[in-house]
Amino acid sequence: MTSALPYANGPVHIGHLAGVYVPADIYVRYLRLKGEEVLFVGGSDEHGVPVTQRARKEGITPQDVVDRYHGIIKESFKEFGISFDVYSRTTSDVHHKFASDFFRKLYDEGKLVEQSTQQFYDEKTEKFLTDRDVVGECPYCHKQAYGNQCEEGCGRALEPTELINPRSKETGETPILKETKNWYLPLNEYQQWLKEWILEGHKEWRPNVYGQCKSWLDMDLQPRAMTRDLDWGIPVPVEGADGKVLYVWFDAPIGYISNTKELCDKEPEKHGSWEQWWQSEDTRLVHFIGKDNIVFHCIIFPVMMKAHGKYVMPDNVPSNEFLNLEDDKISTSRNWAVWLNEYLVDFPGKQDVLRYVLTANAPETKDNNFTWKDFQARNNNELVAVYGNFVNRALVLTKKYFDGKVPACGELTDYDKSIVAEFVDVKGKVENLLDQYKFREAQKEAMELARIGNRYLAETEPWKLAKTDMDRVATILNLSLQLVANLSIVFEPFLPFSSKKLREMLNLASFEWTSLGSTELLAEGHELGEVGLLFEKIEDETIQAQLDRLERIKKENEA
Ligand code: 2FM
Ligand code: ZN
Repeated sequence: MTSALPYANGPVHIGHLAGVYVPADIYVRYLRLKGEEVLFVGGSDEHGVPVTQRARKEGITPQDVVDRYHGIIKESFKEFGISFDVYSRTTSDVHHKFASDFFRKLYDEGKLVEQSTQQFYDEKTEKFLTDRDVVGECPYCHKQAYGNQCEEGCGRALEPTELINPRSKETGETPILKETKNWYLPLNEYQQWLKEWILEGHKEWRPNVYGQCKSWLDMDLQPRAMTRDLDWGIPVPVEGADGKVLYVWFDAPIGYISNTKELCDKEPEKHGSWEQWWQSEDTRLVHFIGKDNIVFHCIIFPVMMKAHGKYVMPDNVPSNEFLNLEDDKISTSRNWAVWLNEYLVDFPGKQDVLRYVLTANAPETKDNNFTWKDFQARNNNELVAVYGNFVNRALVLTKKYFDGKVPACGELTDYDKSIVAEFVDVKGKVENLLDQYKFREAQKEAMELARIGNRYLAETEPWKLAKTDMDRVATILNLSLQLVANLSIVFEPFLPFSSKKLREMLNLASFEWTSLGSTELLAEGHELGEVGLLFEKIEDETIQAQLDRLERIKKENEA
């Protein structure tokens, strides 16, 4: 399992988490619980123009930039429980060598095409300008645009030479056109194969992914440059290629492989060899990404691997749409985001709350929206009032009436049996949804268990029966505790911190996914651990503080 390598040019925000890392982590935790052999590979994408732009803006080196943000990003992921087996970086020696060798093999075998083109060149800095280093007027909507895309205006993909009045972003100079030689991956030669592999072979991919692939494959694919005239990146390992580096979208996905290699070389007994993961037929490769990465993971990287020869192809590429913040597009440059490192300061210990809300609103099929009011409502009305409340009632009543020991289960009434019937098939339901990458619905199904539990206690009212029929109370609480134990299992992929806390309260050391749905998870007489609150209410003031912050940012942006 891989998740997109984020650019190490800034911290990560809720959009990253919702679109890529939380779904990937849910899936990986689920597979591990089922006992599958999984490797979850991540890392930072440290090359590319965004890094050089940040460095320029701050007057530091690109290496300074990536050193800083790689650390911050890695720490944020760890704090949110994103359970990578390896999280490395594309400036590592292992990666440089691996990506360089990968390119060299394609070059030696004639799989790349050499081509000369006219590119914009800034005479002042004596540098070729990448597409994003050129700005100018969009020929379609006449807004300010980058050389590769009109971001602020009509959104069209552009060629830098299309811009009206092109200028160098760095110096403001009008660039000249100058000839340069680069190496291209002839995507056109793979078009037929891609059509068969994706359009025929992977009709089950999400409609947004399949649709984007289809619209690319319905056009004639063009050769795409795999090298760039740039001084930040992996040097092109070919004579006469001074001042050129590998295209960031060539080296970044190779990072999945080189990071695997780094881990496997370090701990071969534990993880086997990297080839076993990447080149063996029984590997199932899945890429978790955001929608702007689809073409790179479904077309370009597969062609690179196909050209190389031995690699397995992705089995699925579950890509999400985008998450907006308070009805506005998340934007790093406008600081319109909830940064994970800042969230952790404002909401210490509440990682699961954010995980829950982001999954509940996951942009799986369409762009979705994060609002602080919804965040509060989902915490207070679902996590606290449904899940937390049920757990708390079941545990506190057991402490009160049975000294914290699991009471004996007597004969089940028809009503008890109907409750059991409602939750025994939760395993099948959740699995079915997770297998289809439907994380939002799967989490909803898990929450359904807690709703069943609340309903059961409300209907049976054991606190009233305590005066007359303790045997009945014992049965009700036994069944409730079994439900609570089920909750700790089913929520493990979604809310790992709370599940751990809950298992401590239950004094349940080990658990298995296969026992999900069982009514015999806790034996009679088993002693519960210490009972605490699983979730806490979030007050209006706390939410208002976040809204005020966003209001301030909006004002700053307008000023
Ligand atoms: O879009 C991005 O943030 C890229 N850095 C993703 C790279 S994914 C992979 F290819 F490494
Ligand atoms: Zn435009």
